Amino acid sequence: MGKVLYSVTMSVDGFIAGPGGDMSWLRPYLGPNPEVDALVGEIGALLVGARTYSGDDPNRGTDQEGAFEGAWHGPQFVLTHRPPPSPPDDVTFLDDLGAALSAAKDAAGDKYVNVLGADVARQCLAAGELDEVLTIVAPVLLGDGTRLFEEPGGRQVELERYRVTEVAHATNTWFRVVR
Ligand SMILES: NC(=O)c1ccc[n+]([C@@H]2O[C@H](COP(=O)([O-])OP(=O)(O)OC[C@H]3O[C@@H](n4cnc5c(N)ncnc54)[C@H](OP(=O)(O)O)[C@@H]3O)[C@@H](O)[C@H]2O)c1
Repeated sequence: MGKVLYSVTMSVDGFIAGPGGDMSWLRPYLGPNPEVDALVGEIGALLVGARTYSGDDPNRGTDQEGAFEGAWHGPQFVLTHRPPPSPPDDVTFLDDLGAALSAAKDAAGDKYVNVLGADVARQCLAAGELDEVLTIVAPVLLGDGTRLFEEPGGRQVELERYRVTEVAHATNTWFRVVR
């Protein structure tokens, strides 16, 4: 069975989106990243939060719109309490984390289920279902927005760093979640 990965581009101060879900901050830091290019082929399914699914996309209206700058295509499982009446092809809307994870894992086979959205990643962690984290840290401070990980009252989660690579505009760091 494949692993569950939370991969995300974030600011140095730990935000994955700016205030109000703004993603325009990301635009100057999009560019060649061989680590991410290789990852795209290793992802078998996406597990996506509703705010990510319907949120800002710095590439909207271009041929790079969508997950991984439009490079990834495949089954997406979106967690939401408000599914649309007619889902697009390849997108399944669910309102239960366990059912969504199970469906995403089945679809992914031995590839990664890649989590998009901090709230969904937090729930995967809490359920003991998150295996790895990839942070792509851009050299910018945002000051406010959506944090990589937020849990009221705090929670310490141990991570084992196992690979770091540098590209022109970011630092990629891979972690295993220690259980
Ligand atoms: N920098 C990056 O690489 C990156 C990557 C991905 C996303 N983002 C950004 O991160 C932000 C989104 O993260 P987020 O943490 O705010 O939200 P999120 O995880 O994308 O979505 C959270 C929403 O999903 C739905 N949901 C979550 N768990 C559910 C469950 N168990 N059952 C039913 N519905 C459930 C709920 O929406 P409803 O109740 O409304 O249906 C919830 O409010 C966006 O601004 C996005 O653009 C950035």
